[in-house]
This record gives sequence, C-alpha cells and structure tokens, in this order.
Amino acid sequence: MPTKTVTGAVIAIVLVVAIAITFTLLTPHKPKHAERIEEREMQKIEVGERIKLSAPDYRGNTSVEEALLKRRSVRFYSGEDLSIEEVSQLLWAAQGTTGTGRTAPSAGALYPLELYLVVGDVEGLDKGVYQYRPVEHELEKRVTGDVQMELSKAAVGQNQAHVRDAAVDLVFTAVYERTTGKYGERGFRYVHMEAGHAAQNVYLQAESLELGTVVIGAFSDDKVKELVNAEEQEEPLYIMPVGRTL
Ligand SMILES: Cc1cc2nc3c(=O)[nH]c(=O)nc-3n(C[C@H](O)[C@H](O)[C@H](O)COP(=O)(O)O)c2cc1C
Repeated sequence: MPTKTVTGAVIAIVLVVAIAITFTLLTPHKPKHAERIEEREMQKIEVGERIKLSAPDYRGNTSVEEALLKRRSVRFYSGEDLSIEEVSQLLWAAQGTTGTGRTAPSAGALYPLELYLVVGDVEGLDKGVYQYRPVEHELEKRVTGDVQMELSKAAVGQNQAHVRDAAVDLVFTAVYERTTGKYGERGFRYVHMEAGHAAQNVYLQAESLELGTVVIGAFSDDKVKELVNAEEQEEPLYIMPVGRTL
C-alpha cells in the first residue's frame, strides 16, 4: 500500500476516534437514579402500586464506632428534601434483607415487624404512606396525600412537632401472632426487643448519612394505625421522624 494511503487512513481513524470522544464528553451525563426519578414522575403512583428502590450502598463513609459515638436523638430538621437513595438506605438498614437474613435479628426468624414510610419531602416521591417490602426492596403505596400533620397530632406529649417537620416518618408496626404463635407470652417481649434492634439500625444509618432521627413511643395506637392504613392485626410500636440536620 502506498505511504500516502496509509497516512490518510491513520488520519481518518484518529479523526473518527477524536469525534467520538468529544461527543461522549459533551453529552451531559445523567445519573441512573435521575432516570428512575424521571420515569417515576411521569407515571403517577396509585394506591396498591409498587416502586422498585435502588440497591443499598454497603460502603458508607462512617465507621460503626463513629456512628455509635455521634448518635443522638435529633428533633429539629432543615426542611430539605431527602433523596430516594437516602430513603432506600434507611429502609434497608431498618428491615432490609442481607442474603440469608435481615439487617436486624428476629426471634425464630419470624419477622413480626412491618415498616411504613410516611413521605413529606422526598425527591420524586409523592406525599403519602408507603409500605416497605423488604424481600423485593420495594415500596407499596397505601395512602395518597399529606399524612404528617395528622401523624404529629396522633403523637402525644410535650412537643412532637418533629413528626410533622421531618422529611419522612418511619412507622414500625408488629404482628405479634407471628412470634407469639411459636413462643407464647414470651413472644411479646421478643417483638419489642426486635423493634429496638431495627430502630437502632435506623439511628446508626441516619448518622452515617448525616441525617437526624429520634424514636417516638408516645402516640395514640388507634390513630397511627388508621393513618398508615395498617392491617387489623398490626400494632404500632415506634415512629421515627428523619430529616436533614440543621
Ligand atoms: C422507648 C422509647 C420511647 C421514646 N419516646 C420518645 C417520644 O415519644 N418522643 C421523643 O421526642 N423522644 C422519645 N424517645 C427518645 C428519648 O427521649 C431519648 O432517647 C433520650 O432523651 C436520650 O437521648 P439520646 O437518644 O440523644 O441519647 C424515646 C426513647 C425510647 C427508648
């Protein structure tokens, strides 16, 4: 092949590669989660429909020791939105699956806890109540609309405005029969212990995400149950408001 033709071919290849690289660099990079949020905004989520959550991140920047050291109950929040990834992470920490088990221990692996997410301010997620489905790592919509104000009224005591002001509230309920069916009376204490394990996971995960939370045990059971549209056999155990810290 003549030298001139070879040089021409090389120049042509270099030009094509250069154009391809420039095109790739100039095309705005859209993160995967943004695509998911756009898809979600386009499709209105109705009661009974489900949303797939992003896979949890298993490598945070905070050590367990640091999270334990810094953990405190936080009742004042900045009012900013949480991202769907942060919500996914909190739910996974609370009750998510870990291959053969879950993030929190459970007597007899009977998993009596149910977990609801009351949404106030989350990017790409309508206000309302969603139930966390741990096995599928999905959210199922249970109630449409703003429930936080009513939930804060259901929480009794000095000042539980943090329930209203948080970006989200996690509500743990329990189906006692799942555990008492095997362990009898002693099963009640097991269920309460499990709520403690799950709640501590949320405290530590919130700390790692630089979010604030607090456990709330003072509320009207009937009102909370009705607001999250829980099943008849469920009893609410904890509300955990979560928000960005001030
Ligand atoms: C079972 C239980 C119930 C609680 N209920 C409430 C509550 O209803 N409202 C609230 O603001 N804090 C509540 N707390 C949080 C405590 O007030 C808090 O853990 C305590 O003041 C110690 O502070 P710290 O968590 O920052 O270490 C509760 C804590 C526990 C363990």
